[in-house]
Parts: sequence; C-alpha cells; structure tokens
Amino acid sequence: MNNPYIPEGAYLIASLLFVIGLKRLSSPRTARSGNTLAAIGMALALVGTFFLPAMAHFGWIVLAIVIGTVPGWLLAKKVKMTAMPQMVSLFNGMGGACALFISLGEWINSDSDESLGLILPMFFGIIFGAISFSGSLVAFGKLQGLISEKPLRWPLQKTINIVLCAIMVALATIAVRHCHCELHWIYLLAGAALVLGVLQVLPIGGADMPVVISVLNSCTGMAAAVTGFAMHNMAMIIAGVLVGAAGSFLTLLMCKAMNRSLLAVIFGSFGGGAQAGAAAAQGEKTQRETTAAEAAIMMGYARKVIIIPGYGLAVAQAQHLVHELEQMLEKRAVEVKYAIHPVAGRMPGHMNVLLAEADVPYPKLFDMDEINPEFDQADVALIIGANDVVNPAARNDATSPIYGMPILNADKAKNIIVIKRGKGAGFAGIENELFFDAKTRMLFGDAKKALQELVAEIRGL
Ligand code: TAP
Repeated sequence: MNNPYIPEGAYLIASLLFVIGLKRLSSPRTARSGNTLAAIGMALALVGTFFLPAMAHFGWIVLAIVIGTVPGWLLAKKVKMTAMPQMVSLFNGMGGACALFISLGEWINSDSDESLGLILPMFFGIIFGAISFSGSLVAFGKLQGLISEKPLRWPLQKTINIVLCAIMVALATIAVRHCHCELHWIYLLAGAALVLGVLQVLPIGGADMPVVISVLNSCTGMAAAVTGFAMHNMAMIIAGVLVGAAGSFLTLLMCKAMNRSLLAVIFGSFGGGAQAGAAAAQGEKTQRETTAAEAAIMMGYARKVIIIPGYGLAVAQAQHLVHELEQMLEKRAVEVKYAIHPVAGRMPGHMNVLLAEADVPYPKLFDMDEINPEFDQADVALIIGANDVVNPAARNDATSPIYGMPILNADKAKNIIVIKRGKGAGFAGIENELFFDAKTRMLFGDAKKALQELVAEIRGL
C-alpha cells in the first residue's frame, strides 16, 4: 500500500485545487464551487496520506477521522448564519491544536542531533499552534457570550506579554540544550504560548473582534505551514501558507476597515480604553418614532434610497424582503443602492453573502469608500439592523471604543430611517447618537416584520 508517488501526486492535485478554490472564494457567485473544490482537495490530500511510506495504525487514524468529522459535520450543518464567527473561531482553534500536538509529537520523536532547520519549525509549530488554539477559544467564548465581550485590561499588560515572550525564548533555548532527556522544558514552552494566546485576546473586544479573528486565522495557517516543514509534508506547507497568507491579507484589510494599526493588534493593545460616555450624554434626548406608512411615503416618493444592512437583518433573515422592497422602489423609479460596511454583521463578507442568497444583483452592492460620497445626495438612508457601522461616535468621540473606525456616512443623508427592535446596543455595546438625530426616524420592530409592513404599504401607494 505504501507508494510515495501516490501521496505526492495527490498532494500536487490537492494544492492546485486549494489555489483554484481560494481564487473562486473571492466572489459570491463562484464561492460555493470554490469551497467544494477546496474540500475535494482536502479529501484527496487525506486519502493520499494513507499511502505515505511508514504509515501504520490505520484503525486508529480512521477512528480519529470519524471522531473529528461527525461533530464537525453536524455543527456545520446546524449552525445559524449569525453564529458562524464563533464556529469559525472554534474550528480555527482546532487547527492550532493540531499544529501544536503534531509539532510536540515530532519533537518527542526526533533525534537529539536534529538540525536547526528542523528544530525551528517544530518550535514555531508549537508556539503558533498554542497561541492560535488558546486565543481562538477565548475569541469563541467572547463571541458566544460565555465570557465578557468587553476588552479586559490589567496593569503592565504589554510588559507581561513581552516578559512571556522572553520566557518562551529562554525555554526554547533550554529545551534545545537538554534536548530529549528532559521533555518538561518543551511542555513549559507550550504552556507559556497557551497563556500568551489567552492574554493576547482577552484585552480585545467589541467592534475590534473581527480583526483578532483574522489574526488568529493567519496564525493557524502559519502554524500548519511550519508544522508541514517539520514533517516534510508538502500539502500541509502549501495549505498552511495559503491560509496564513489569506489570513494576513484579511487582517490588513480589517485593520484598514477599522483604522487600527497592525502593530497595535499584534501587541494586544488596541480597542478604546473607556466605554463611550455617549450613552450618558444621550440620556436626556429622545428618539423619534415613525410608522411603516410614513416610512413608505418617504421612500416611495424619494429619488434615491441607500439601504444599509447590518447584523439585525441577518438575525431576522429578512434578506428576501429587502430585495422585494428594493424591486418595488425601483418600479417607482427610485434609485436604490446598498451600502456595505466591511465589518457589518459578524463575519467578513457577511452582508454580501446574505444579500447574494436573496439574489440581490451584485452591482447594486457598494463598498464603504464607493458609497460614502453619495449619502448627501440620498433622500433616505434606510438602516436595517445596523448600529456600530453607522455610529458617528467613531468620528466624534475620542473616548469611544470604536473611535477611529471608518463608518458609513448615513448621517449625511437627508432623512434616516432605522429599523431595529428596540433600544438595544450594537456589538460594541455603546449608544448611537445617530438614533437621536433630528433627521432620524425609528421604525421599531423585528426587521422581517417591519419590512413586511413597509412592502405592503409601498404596494398600496
Ligand atoms: P451591530 O452594531 O451589532 O448592531 C446590530 C443591531 O441590530 C442592534 O443594535 C440590534 O438592536 C439590531 N437587531 C438585532 N436583531 C434584530 C432584528 N431581528 N431585527 C431588527 N434589528 C435587530 O451590527 P452592525 O452595525 O452590523 O455592526 C457589526 C458589529 O459587529 C461591529 O461592531 C463589528 O466590529 C462587529 N463584528 C463584526 C464581525 C465581522 S467580521 N463582520 C465579526 C465580529 C464582530 P435591537 O436589539 O434594538 O434590535
């Protein structure tokens, strides 16, 4: 059964499928087939691995695959779209754990006179894998609401992280000197990296979570790639590099979207300090309510309407209704565009995927930079279940945790209609002064119900 050409061939085809799959993931139209291609590639790589020389214990391996596949499959089938980020975090953490344990195993089984070229990948596999594992679990806990979403702060935060890094370097050096006779040094190194992962993610919260998720994503990719080096496994190196590179690009894009510096992200010091004082400041002001009938008149007789979808639209699963509304407005010669904020929802591209599911034509979706200059010509900005991404505190309030994050300029529109259930805050947990603006009218209710009423009213105009 052991034939070196079979795994090499399988890895080559698998790598091509990964690259093509990743390319196709870049557009909602081709994303499904890209995902399928990459999955076929992974299955091929898995089967190919069975043919590697020196493979043994097939029964145990199949058992481990079943133990991993069954819950993974069930979770992926059952997960709600809105709970996707925490599931991605959890799965990402599993990738980190794999890299950690494989690298530990390689270290334990390697010879004491191993070259630095092999020792270093093992160390990096242990360190990146452990950070990604524990960091992803903390991110999962925050997103799932198991631990506080708020950024946690403590004295000497950065100093502690730097000391921990120095301890890790010292432990790695001692582990090499004592090599395989004293394994506890390598376990201590893994332990220190696990603690660093926790300490890196705890101080991050609120609107900054997307950035930390993408950092952890690239960390897992790098962990897999270096583990591939340690094991001389080409498929693992290529898959790891692809994930690491894609995650790094995503991190850069997220940093740009959130106006955060990459260094601040890596050293765990970003996110605003104080919780915004906006809530207190708004205490005296009132929100002006409207009805579906009034909102329908405002939009039905407008020239231009910009729709801003947010997390609440995904919760309400009202994407088909918003498409219906857009079509009805267009029949009345109203120009309709969608404004997509890069971190609207709970995962990158969330709104694009959601609207694509309802067949909203892709050319109607505009990125923040494209659409922002158009808000002052819009008669109505219709905000559906969005909050943080239109919060002017990001511009005006230096004490706000989202200060500096670019937002959609909904406040520049002539009229603003906001659909949300009540006075609930957004993910960052802060008040939004836009909802108290004189131009804003609140249409309270679940997005699905409110949109049904709006559609009915517009039909009757
Ligand atoms: P949010 O700021 O989270 O606001 C969502 C709003 O929707 C809430 O204020 C809520 O108010 C309303 N809502 C909830 N369910 C609703 C329903 N069924 N019908 C109508 N409204 C409903 O959303 P956003 O503006 O999209 O911003 C996203 C936030 O998530 C950002 O802070 C971002 O950093 C963070 N985040 C993003 C990602 C990625 S990558 N996209 C990942 C993690 C975190 P009510 O309770 O009053 O209804």
